[in-house]
Amino acid sequence: MTQPPAVELRGITKRFPGVVANRDINLTVARGEIHAIVGENGAGKSTLMKILYGMQRPDEGTIAIDGQHIDLRSPTDAIGAGIGMVHQHFMLADNLTVLENVVLGDEPRRGPRLDIAGARSRINELADTYGFPIDPDVLVEQLGVGERQRVEILKVLYRGARILILDEPTAVLVPQEVDELFRNLAELKREGVTIIFISHKLDEVLSVADTITVIRAGTTVRTVEPSSVTARQLAELMVGSELPTPETRDSTVTDQVELEVRELTVRADDGRTLIDDVGFRIRRGEVLGIAGVEGNGQHELINAILGIDDPAAGTIRLGDQDITHWSTRDRRDAGIGYIPQDRHREGLLLASPLWENVMLGHQARAPYSKGPWIDRKGARQRTIRTIADYDVRTPGPDVPAYALSGGNQQKLIVGREMEASPTLLIAAHPTRGIDVGAQASVWERLRQARADGLAVLLISADLEELIGLSDTLHVIYRGRLVAELDPATVTAEELGSYMTGARAEEARP
Ligand SMILES: Nc1ncnc2c1ncn2[C@@H]1O[C@H](COP(=O)(O)OP(=O)(O)O)[C@@H](O)[C@H]1O
Ligand SMILES: [Mg+2]
Repeated sequence: MTQPPAVELRGITKRFPGVVANRDINLTVARGEIHAIVGENGAGKSTLMKILYGMQRPDEGTIAIDGQHIDLRSPTDAIGAGIGMVHQHFMLADNLTVLENVVLGDEPRRGPRLDIAGARSRINELADTYGFPIDPDVLVEQLGVGERQRVEILKVLYRGARILILDEPTAVLVPQEVDELFRNLAELKREGVTIIFISHKLDEVLSVADTITVIRAGTTVRTVEPSSVTARQLAELMVGSELPTPETRDSTVTDQVELEVRELTVRADDGRTLIDDVGFRIRRGEVLGIAGVEGNGQHELINAILGIDDPAAGTIRLGDQDITHWSTRDRRDAGIGYIPQDRHREGLLLASPLWENVMLGHQARAPYSKGPWIDRKGARQRTIRTIADYDVRTPGPDVPAYALSGGNQQKLIVGREMEASPTLLIAAHPTRGIDVGAQASVWERLRQARADGLAVLLISADLEELIGLSDTLHVIYRGRLVAELDPATVTAEELGSYMTGARAEEARP
C-alpha cells in the first residue's frame, strides 16, 4: 500500500473583504519531502499556510493529514496533528533564554513544579538529532538572526511537529546563514520531517526543494520538479507573463561627482559612534551600492545625508554645494530623491488617497500648488499620469494607499521621487518584500535613472540586487566602510563574509 500524503488540501477557498486570498487551492505534500511554495507577494501563500496551521478557517475545502480528514480550529489543533509553523516575523521574547522561549506555552511539569532539567535534556537531544548547535541557557537577545530562527524551529520540534511550515525563512538571512538553514532542513528531512517552505527567491527554491508549487492570484498554477524548470520559467509561472530581459550593463559613470561624503562621523545621544569616519563619492551615472547586515549604520548614514540627524564631524557635498548644515527640506529641494526602506512609516500616508501621497514632500511646488493653495486637480492629474507611467495597479488616484499591494505602493513611491527630477537618488531596500514583477520594474527604473545621469546610492540586504545594479560596491560593518569590492567579480559569499565581519579587518585599507 502506498503511503498517504503528509498533507492534502482540497478546494481551499478563503475570502477576505474585497479579496479572495485563496481560490479553490489543491496542494499535496508527500511525507518527508521539502515542498516549496512560490508566488508573488499577495498571491495567498501565507494565508494558505495559516489555514494549514489552524490560524485561519477556510470558507471552503478540506484538509487531510496522513490521509485523515481533520478540522483545524486553532494552532493547538494543528500542533496536536504534528504541524508546526515558523512565521515570517519571529515571535521570540528577547529577554528570555533559549530554553525559556522553547518551552514557553508548553511548560514541562513534574507534578506541580516546572521540570527545567527535563526540558534542557529534551532540547539538547533535539539539537543533537537535528544538528542544531545551540546553548539553551543563552539569552535570545544575544543571538543573531540565523540563531533565532533555529530557536523558532526548535520550539516547533519541541512540540512534536513532524510537518514544519516555514514562511519566507531566508528573507532575513545572509548567504552563510541561508546555507546553514538549508543544511538543517536537509537534516530534518533525513529524520523524516516534512517541510513546507515559502520563498520568492527562485534560485534557492530550485536548489533545496524536492517539489515546487506555484501560486498565482490565490490559485495553484502548477506543481513541478526543480529539474524540469529554470528560474526564469518559474518566475514566468509566478507572474503569468514573460519577464523583461536584463539590460546590457555598459557603464554610464561620468567624472562629475554629485555626492561627496567626507570623514563623516555620527554619534548617538549616549555618545556611541554609529557612523565612523565614512567617506565616498558618487558620480553622475553611477550606482554606488552599500551592502551590510541591517543595523550596521545604514539608516544613520541615510539620515545624515538627508539632514535628519546632525553629524558629529565631516562634510557632505551635493553637486558644488556644501549641504552639511542644510535642512532636510532644502536638501530635498536641491535634488535628493529618497525611496525609504519602510514604505509604511516613512514613504506613505496609508489612510490618504494616492494623489495626496504623490504630493508628499513636494506639496509646495507645481503642479500640486497654486500660490498658497493645494491644487487638487493638478495633483490628481499628475497622479493619474504617475499611475500610468509607473504601472501602478489601482482603480484610481482616490483610493487610499493601504489598498495597494506592497509592489504597487513601491512603484508609486518610485514614480513620485523620479517625477521630482532628482540629481541624487537614495534607495533603501527598494525591492524588499515586493513581488518579482514589481521588483523587475523598480530595477528597470533604477537602471534608467543611472542612464539618465543620476547618482544613485543603493542600500540593500539583497546581494543579488546590489551586485546586479551597482557600479561600485562598499560593505558597511559597525558604522565603517570596511571593503570596496568589484561588483563584476564579487560573489554573494564573499560579500557575506565581509558583512558578518569575518573578513572585515584584512580588507580595511
Ligand atoms: N487578515 C486579512 N484580512 C484581509 N485581507 C487579507 C488578510 N490576510 C491576507 N489578506 C489579503 O489576502 C491576499 C493574500 O495575502 P497573503 O496570503 O499574505 O499573500 P502572500 O503570503 O502570498 O504574500 C492579499 O491580497 C492580502 O492583502
Ligand atoms: Mg506571505
